[in-house]
Amino acid sequence: MKKIGVAILGLGVVGGGTYQILTEHREFYQRTQDVDIVVESVLELNRERALSLGVPEDKIASNIAEIVSDPDVNIVVEVIGGIDAAREFVLAALNAGKTVVTSNKELFCKYSHELERAAKRNNAGLYFEASCVGGVPIIRTLLDGVQANVISSMMGIINGTTNYILSKMTDEGSSYEDCLKEAQRLGYAEANPTADVEGFDAAYKLSILSSLAFHTKVPFSKVFREGITGVSKEDIADGKTMGYVLKLLAIGKQSPEGIEVRVHPTFVRKDHPLAAVNDSFNAVYLTGDSVGDVMLYGRGAGALPTGSAIVSDIIYAATHSENKYSTFKNTANADKDVKFISDFKSAYYMRLTVEDRAGILAKIATIFSKNGISIVEMVQKPARADGKVPLVLVTHETKELAVRSAVAKIDALEEIAHVDTVLRVVT
Ligand code: HSE
Repeated sequence: MKKIGVAILGLGVVGGGTYQILTEHREFYQRTQDVDIVVESVLELNRERALSLGVPEDKIASNIAEIVSDPDVNIVVEVIGGIDAAREFVLAALNAGKTVVTSNKELFCKYSHELERAAKRNNAGLYFEASCVGGVPIIRTLLDGVQANVISSMMGIINGTTNYILSKMTDEGSSYEDCLKEAQRLGYAEANPTADVEGFDAAYKLSILSSLAFHTKVPFSKVFREGITGVSKEDIADGKTMGYVLKLLAIGKQSPEGIEVRVHPTFVRKDHPLAAVNDSFNAVYLTGDSVGDVMLYGRGAGALPTGSAIVSDIIYAATHSENKYSTFKNTANADKDVKFISDFKSAYYMRLTVEDRAGILAKIATIFSKNGISIVEMVQKPARADGKVPLVLVTHETKELAVRSAVAKIDALEEIAHVDTVLRVVT
């Protein structure tokens, strides 16, 4: 039986889960895959942690050089995260002809061109299923399952931390700050939650996923990004009354006009399949020209779900003699022929605070009309203590820049009217 040696760089949550799956399922893979996958080495500065997971003392390496020079190691798993050391270690492994499996979305998003070049030069594999949406097999789906299709649209809830926070705000009517604290207490959100709550994590993933879906490099710099830190419980409650649920959506679209890629809090109609994806669960909803709609749902993080993605990549590499690389020209920047759309189309939810007297609505309606914005629904809420009234409305589909122009003109009315919230809506 073929024997494949694996080295794991980093035994944190994901590295620990990967080690557990590989050791517990060793016989299962021998039987079902006809391959003996053995953990030959781990690189973990915290020796106690490695020993507590059951790693034999003689399998704990002292440095990366020991691993890349070990002829028994065929596959190197990078789960240390961050950029500098991870990039150095991955390149060292690839340059030594080892196949690399990584969960590092930021590294892959920013340096996939460099890593893939090194992999091809050294006839090594480079696999990254775990970099996007944890245990949900979206990368393999894009690389294999839906290859027959021209994909026109991909919408995803691809960050569990923000989905947990928004779900809790929706269910309990609590504030963003309280739900963030609860997410931190439960270990869903980091002590410094910026990467998740400001949408960076989702934007790295969207850059990778849309490059694969649209067969062209979609750099991180092209992703429009807005996080959830400004979301209020009032907007969530008012949206709910109008039939919407708020999600941090990652949206990628491709049409003859170009590509649009964006991450922002978005109201989705409560009967949309993505509206039912709650707590820390993730989902991706794809539309292909032949297959139609496909939705994948599952856990986007955690030791065993992410370990599942890593081990599936290891098994793929261990059971295929040809390496599989991305289907697009993998360069640092976008192809100059590709047009990226920043003035995208969407429906919008807005909350305004206005003076409660005759003629104000007419002024606002005139501004909307001059910017080609048509209103679907509008609700005037009870007056506040200062006598002003909140107006909550949803528009028909319109252009992003038209909305920004209208908002600037309404805000210029100063005490008369002010736009407090603008959120995009998927109907
Ligand atoms: N921090 C991510 C999330 C998981 O909350 O979904 C790793 O990508």
